[in-house]
Amino acid sequence: MSQIQAADAVASANAPKRRFGETLAPLRPLLPYALRYKRTILLAFAALLLASGATLTLPAAVRGMIDHGFSAESAGTVNAYFGAMVAVAATLALASASRYYFVMTLGERVVADLRADLFQHLTALDSAFYDTAKTGELLSRLTADTTLLKSAFGSSASIALRNMFMFVGAVVMMFATSPKLAGLALAAIPVIVLPLIASGRGVRRRSKHAQDTLAQAAAYAGENLAAVRAMQANGAQAATVARFKRAVESAYEAAQAATLMRAFVTAGAILVVFTSVVAVLWLGAQDVLAGRISSGLLSQFVLYAVLGASSLGELSSVWSEVTAAAGAASRIADILAVRPKIVAPSHPTPPPARWEGRISFEHVSFAYPTALERPALRDLSFSIAPGERVALVGPSGAGKSTVFALLLRFYDVDKGAIALDGVDLRALDPLDLRRAIALAPQDPVIFGLSVAENIAYGRESASREAIIAAAKRAQAHDFIEALSQGYDTLLGERGVTLSGGQRQRLAIARAILADAPVLLLDEATSALDAENEAAVQRALHDVMTGRTSIVIAHRLATVLEADRIIVLDEGRIVEEGTHATLSAAGGLYARLAKLQFDTERAFGLEAEPVLYSPHGAGD
Ligand SMILES: Nc1ncnc2c1ncn2[C@@H]1O[C@H](COP(=O)(O)OP(=O)(O)O)[C@@H](O)[C@H]1O
Ligand SMILES: [Mg+2]
Repeated sequence: MSQIQAADAVASANAPKRRFGETLAPLRPLLPYALRYKRTILLAFAALLLASGATLTLPAAVRGMIDHGFSAESAGTVNAYFGAMVAVAATLALASASRYYFVMTLGERVVADLRADLFQHLTALDSAFYDTAKTGELLSRLTADTTLLKSAFGSSASIALRNMFMFVGAVVMMFATSPKLAGLALAAIPVIVLPLIASGRGVRRRSKHAQDTLAQAAAYAGENLAAVRAMQANGAQAATVARFKRAVESAYEAAQAATLMRAFVTAGAILVVFTSVVAVLWLGAQDVLAGRISSGLLSQFVLYAVLGASSLGELSSVWSEVTAAAGAASRIADILAVRPKIVAPSHPTPPPARWEGRISFEHVSFAYPTALERPALRDLSFSIAPGERVALVGPSGAGKSTVFALLLRFYDVDKGAIALDGVDLRALDPLDLRRAIALAPQDPVIFGLSVAENIAYGRESASREAIIAAAKRAQAHDFIEALSQGYDTLLGERGVTLSGGQRQRLAIARAILADAPVLLLDEATSALDAENEAAVQRALHDVMTGRTSIVIAHRLATVLEADRIIVLDEGRIVEEGTHATLSAAGGLYARLAKLQFDTERAFGLEAEPVLYSPHGAGD
């Protein structure tokens, strides 16, 4: 996640000293999310005001009871006071419940919106980002970090606001009750607040560390669960578990350090606050003894002071939660700040009603961002006429799949240009470009959907008839019908697992259904056995007619279908021609072909000669 780490580094270098406003700054991008729900915010504020007001009348009522209540002649007043207190309690209950409801749902709402936006953003990022990103870490941003934010926007914001209101209200009432005592009490506030703010930074750093460690552990777990068979086959469970335990353990230690810090901050706050209250109370007691103020007034003041002090204490404990949320927000903001490199130009060339399917590579050079020193394609030039069938042949790592990746504009070329019907790919909206191309990849992905939905992936509007027709042409219909629920059988993690050959045939059906003018097949038949391959080969022959197709092939049957063969080696074209001319030329193609023929003959497989397949299904 190099881009994100870089952004982190910049952020912390620019902010050697964080203050109140700066700590909250990462939360600012979230404000628009909250402001969408102005009505909820207003209702929450109204409830908040009402609840605080109700709480603040209680001490005055207590004073009335103490100063007038306990004498026989004012029994009526006592009843009135007690009645008022019940009314206040009812108001308080109702207002608190509404405040809780509105603020919490606001938090849930904001986080739900943010999660959806974040996921949408992730789907727009390009291949270069995902070459280095760890999906586990991204998932942790999407779930754990957004949950942290929910607590900030929900409970913490609710508690913080209530206590801020209470604090201000209590201070005002303290001054109204006894300006002298209030002044004394306020003098103690800087002593309380300054250390809290200072310690906030430490808590923040520690909880960010805890959160990062957890994201790494999640990434590690995700990687291993995705490859659970490889892990078990290699007998690596014990080592994997031990590594995960270490990761979880260090996440625990980081969280423990953050919590310890928080605990100390809370203890310090309580101690200082209540010592100050007791000191002021003692001074007040002297005044009561000297007859300068009534005992009811002192009680009222003390109650206000306790209200004010406890809201300050609660504010401090919420503060560390808010700082943790700010950390989460800045990590999310870092991801949202990553701009995809492959985007539509501001004025994309509109696609024609029907693409002819002419492809040209002109002096294309390209190196993957993660392997800049080793170019995958070097000064590659070729062009393919509409409707032509071209086979790409070459040893593993020659750059065949890279040609497809560039055609689909998963990356931009470093030098040169690629054009479809004479239009530079960079002038097109990637969506339009990719709609013009159907790809059956080397290692097809099957999603946790039904068979029919898998074939119609990206084409939700496809009819059942069209899906079945595509499956039939890809020779997939028979095995699909044999599944327990036919086309409605669930595939993927929670469903049926398909063999490599079955997955390839579904991918071919997907490409057939796409009915695009350009068809790319990346060794799409490598995992099929001889009989199935012959059938699929017939299907492909049928599909390829009338559209431009490029087939990465290592089986002779596929190559023989092609109008032209391009032989790649180390990112360059080394030979070009037909099977007959290339075999006669005695170059790389002839060597690859001979090598394969001999192997196949030894295994008695002449019927379906394989051109080049040193590593079996994939390369
Ligand atoms: N995502 C990637 N990141 C970095 N290097 C890659 C990536 N994909 C392929 N390569 C490298 O680029 C070269 C060409 O790969 P590829 O086009 O997949 O070869 P082929 O399909 O002909 O076997 C190889 O050296 C391979 O290691
Ligand atoms: Mg490949």
